Amino acid sequence: AIKAAIFDLDGVLVDTAHYHYLAWRRVAERLDIPFTEADNERLKGVSRSQSLEYVLQKGKESMHADEKREWAARKNAWYLEYLSALNESHLLPGARAYVAWLKKAGVRIGLGTSSKNAGVILERLRIQDWFDAAVDGSMVAQTKPDPEVFLKCAHLLHVRPECCLVLEDSTAGIQAAKNAGMKCIGIGDKHVLTEADRVVSGLQELLPSKEASP
Ligand code: G6P
Ligand code: MG
Repeated sequence: AIKAAIFDLDGVLVDTAHYHYLAWRRVAERLDIPFTEADNERLKGVSRSQSLEYVLQKGKESMHADEKREWAARKNAWYLEYLSALNESHLLPGARAYVAWLKKAGVRIGLGTSSKNAGVILERLRIQDWFDAAVDGSMVAQTKPDPEVFLKCAHLLHVRPECCLVLEDSTAGIQAAKNAGMKCIGIGDKHVLTEADRVVSGLQELLPSKEASP
């Protein structure tokens, strides 16, 4: 039985995935590297530095470590610029109701995100108190698809991996959940998120009117 639900943040609870995309596209444009929605799909769930590596690889561009740090910082500054207007209205449909329903059913709630901006985002959305445990990009050495972030969260929740359900919008994140030995529901397009146990278009589809138990 499912005892814990571990949520990814960007693209699952909050509508920030598009801002990440806009910021990376801006980086790619400046570097004269072609960047499509399909390229972006590979960056979802992946740490900032690793994402930059993908972009540079795509453009067959090599760069010194200092310069990489500068571009990563620039990307984040643009991203934060897009985030400046973030508020509770950016919570994705069904997020609040689904989490409330899980809690009522006694399911523990975790956060498992690659983002180092998670603190700011949770605060803006006023949802810090939703989580029994939260693990973000500053607390792990490996990025998704490595299972570290989810295993760490399960550990903090005192729930065995096989009793955890992960909610993820990214291919890398779904692989991370599977690598952790967890169940995974993909949020998005089932033709893209083929490795998930099940795919829904949004958390609202998981609400109890359509589903009997977590
Ligand atoms: C999430 C997003 C990624 C992002 C990563 C790191 O996983 O899906 O697109 O690259 O977090 O985010 P950060 O906010 O630390 O740059
Ligand atoms: Mg995500």
